[in-house]
Amino acid sequence: MNTSSLASFDSIRAVQWRDHALHLLDQRLLPQQEAWIACTDADQVTEAIRDLVVRGAPAIGIAAAWGVVLAASQHQGEALQQALARLRAARPTAVNLMWALDRMQALIAGGASVEALTREAQLIQDQDLAGNRHMGELGAALIEPGSGVMTHCNTGSLATSGFGTALGVVRAGVAAGRISQVYAGETRPWLQGARLTMWELVRDGIPAKLIADSAASHLMKSGAVQWVIVGADRIAANGDTANKIGTYQLAIAARHHGVKFMVVAPSSTVDMATASGDDIDIELRDSAELLGVSGKRTVIEGAEAWNPVFDVAPASLIDAIVTEKGVILNPSVEAMRKVFG
Ligand code: MRU
Repeated sequence: MNTSSLASFDSIRAVQWRDHALHLLDQRLLPQQEAWIACTDADQVTEAIRDLVVRGAPAIGIAAAWGVVLAASQHQGEALQQALARLRAARPTAVNLMWALDRMQALIAGGASVEALTREAQLIQDQDLAGNRHMGELGAALIEPGSGVMTHCNTGSLATSGFGTALGVVRAGVAAGRISQVYAGETRPWLQGARLTMWELVRDGIPAKLIADSAASHLMKSGAVQWVIVGADRIAANGDTANKIGTYQLAIAARHHGVKFMVVAPSSTVDMATASGDDIDIELRDSAELLGVSGKRTVIEGAEAWNPVFDVAPASLIDAIVTEKGVILNPSVEAMRKVFG
């Protein structure tokens, strides 16, 4: 693999801790504006997660870890616990949030200092980046040279500490000559694919074409893509995977057309305490997100909408789950247990 071209694919850092504040690239405004928000207390971090200033499962977990550092610098006892409970309730589906809070709270329970909590939050962020680079190599190795791939939502540097999960595989695959063309679905209603993934891919000079979400089956039928590569918000013990709404229909269409389906996520997204996808809490968001585009109303006043923002792709439709701990082909309870215990 050409490591110098890989480095040029790894320049975006959307979650940054400096000067005792958490600086977040505001993802609501991209690509029109590159504006930063500084969070100086835990409730500002909670709000940033809820309002999608920061989004993507790993990035949410990392932001929450820094939120704990801020909370512990300003509160103790019951007030601290309440601030942590508000962070935990910010969004329900991405288990990385709960995973990061559990990790930080275990230290608090052991009497850790703010300095020790700061070191732990930095470790969470650094481990995520190292894991992404490793997953990039593992996932790219599964792809035949010259392939076309499709991705959904945004799983790149914006959604993680950097480099990305599914988009990390895309970056590594392009650098290694295994991927020659990327197709990104728009990802209605919030347009993570159109606004964020295309922003990352164009900046990196990766050959990418945007498609309407509804063009996915037609694309697969054309033979232009050999893999669908997506991230995850929670992977259950049997390999069922919750990810951005629309992932389930992509998995169905991929199987129908003989296109392979890859999920790429760090082990912090794996939830062995949740037996199957049926047990995953799917976030419902405000119907206003669906009744307009980028805040501009497009639907008649008085109309109602149903806006679940995640769905579950069953393990039976997934060919490979790539984590930093290894690749699980044809995921099942047994195959998951071998890697995650
Ligand atoms: O609602 P979002 O934008 O937070 O949803 C993000 C996704 O569904 C991503 O695919 C997932 O979190 C993986 S990000 C590496």
